[in-house]
Amino acid sequence: MTYENILVETQGKVGLIHLNRPKALNALNDQLMTELGQALVAFDADPEIGCIVLTGSDKAFAAGADIGGMAELSYMDVFKGDYITRNWEQIRSVRKPVIAAVAGFALGGGCELAMMCDFIIAADNAKFGQPEIKLGIIPGAGGTQRLPRAVSKSKAMDMCLTARMMDAAEAERVGLVSRVVPLERLLQEALEAAIVISSMSLPAVMMIKESVNRAYETTLAEGINYERRLFHSTFATEDQKEGMQAFLGKRLPIFKNI
Ligand code: HXC
Repeated sequence: MTYENILVETQGKVGLIHLNRPKALNALNDQLMTELGQALVAFDADPEIGCIVLTGSDKAFAAGADIGGMAELSYMDVFKGDYITRNWEQIRSVRKPVIAAVAGFALGGGCELAMMCDFIIAADNAKFGQPEIKLGIIPGAGGTQRLPRAVSKSKAMDMCLTARMMDAAEAERVGLVSRVVPLERLLQEALEAAIVISSMSLPAVMMIKESVNRAYETTLAEGINYERRLFHSTFATEDQKEGMQAFLGKRLPIFKNI
């Protein structure tokens, strides 16, 4: 598959996707989002891949949805064209972990895209924001929903209503990102995390992703029950036997992902 707006490569068992519209600070146009969805689906289906890393450039993860592409759209264009849902939701169907490695601007749809990933590793120059209000619109790809869940109502209101940007230190303090590293280490850090994940039992990895995400969709009692059922099901895998026998035998496990 050839892409015009993203760069796709594999590094061992890690699928790496670079957003690549440098002249527009990786503004997310329709074609880019379609390509991103295709690349994610392809990695998800590839048995050789255990984890996916999504990144941008040193200056911008993504400065938002492409404003030029949206400026003249009518209500009927966006409503009947299923704008956003049509090609932004693909990432939610991916069952392998997706790590966002964010440097520079992650604004509007860029911040929302990062939040759709399973966790965010930020460079020390990262800046997160939901500046849609300055354009006379509101966040449309989950900003008003995922941000309060990630950082509290107060911070989410502050960011969505004032459009101020949050730097990497604040983002780590409030739990939006899992780690902050120097810019020059960002990709390495994300790849190393992805390599660790790829070395684990893939069924266990997929079940953890599913179960953690369930925490956002249900009550605690139902979530605990869901986790318990998945936990029980891991005892049907060969990887559970291998993992425990390897520990008892004081050796490294060799997981077969079954
Ligand atoms: C289209 C964009 C863009 C965007 C930047 N560019 N952001 N083009 N859509 N979202 C373009 C600029 O027009 C410019 O192109 C080039 O990228 C470099 O940007 P500058 O503004 O010159 O860079 P700088 O001065 O460093 O400022 C960086 C910036 C600023 C603070 C990130 O570009 C900015 O505020 N961008 C818009 C951020 C924003 O509002 N995002 C939310 C979009 S709405 P030229 O050709 O002039 O060099 C959204 C809704 C999501 O995301 C809803 C769900 C889909």
